[in-house]
Amino acid sequence: MRVVRSVRELRRALGASRGDGATIGLVPTMGAFHEGHLSLMHRARERCDVVVVSLFVNPAQFAPGEDLEAYPRDEARDAALAAAEGVDLLFVPSVAEVYPAGDATTVTVAGMTETLCGAHRGPEHFHGVTTVVAKLLNMVDPDVAFFGGKDAQQAAVLRRMTLDLWWDVEIEVCPIVREADGLAMSSRNVYLSADERRRALALRAGLDAAEAAVAAGETDAGAVAGATRAAMESAGVEPEYAEVVNPETLTPVAAIDGDALVAVAARVGAARLIDNTIVRVPAGAHPTGRPTVACNA
Ligand code: PAJ
Repeated sequence: MRVVRSVRELRRALGASRGDGATIGLVPTMGAFHEGHLSLMHRARERCDVVVVSLFVNPAQFAPGEDLEAYPRDEARDAALAAAEGVDLLFVPSVAEVYPAGDATTVTVAGMTETLCGAHRGPEHFHGVTTVVAKLLNMVDPDVAFFGGKDAQQAAVLRRMTLDLWWDVEIEVCPIVREADGLAMSSRNVYLSADERRRALALRAGLDAAEAAVAAGETDAGAVAGATRAAMESAGVEPEYAEVVNPETLTPVAAIDGDALVAVAARVGAARLIDNTIVRVPAGAHPTGRPTVACNA
């Protein structure tokens, strides 16, 4: 695995492979690798001839007072883990490389970035994400870019961005990787004390309640959100939000009819945690909760 730090070096390293018609996969990350990140690299290795992982803690997506300074950083450990996954290029640019002097361009996606996490972290968070991912897509020019389903809003926003800007790249969203007890893996889990680590399971408990409610035939999104919230509260955590939305547009749904995204967030100690699940009304159920009846009219 080669480590490159400039866009020039990156493009030179990719140029020959591109000429040979190789497919290029990009996994954008902020480092502090865990099994969630490694699953994306594994998937990229399966699908693409050349795998590029970017490691860049992006200042633009941290609001003032968030954990930019404290964010865990260990490049040597991350490089060893990426190499073990068969990554070809680890791209580790400096802040000045990504945001050169005089940098004045941002990319924003409207309408999907003010809700859910955007309502709590501010839409600037997603403006930082879309801007840096736009830059990374232009730097690497991959055929496929891989993102985790844990950040469902981020994935939906980025897919919208690439569609709207006619980017010739496929966005593949990979499944959430969890600890054995159900906690979604996150670089921020290292902030949790032993007691907070136990309470963090409240997010999974909320999603379990949502899945159980829908499996039992509940189709009213408000009732499902209420069950999610109640389960989180009884597990000792106050939800920042617990919402049922359309997985692609992120707009609230009233009745669950087809796939719906149940998304939750909560602060547990110093960590802000998010999680989600896709629920689907069982076959035969009707959006109002009544069984489907054949209509001959
Ligand atoms: P980061 O938090 O490092 O995450 C990098 C990628 O790993 C994201 O696509 C994220 O969804 C995925 N990921 C994190 N935890 C996961 C888990 N438990 N299971 C599956 N995938 C998981 O997300 C970012 O960085 C940044 O916003 C970034 C896209 C790199 C832009 O700066």
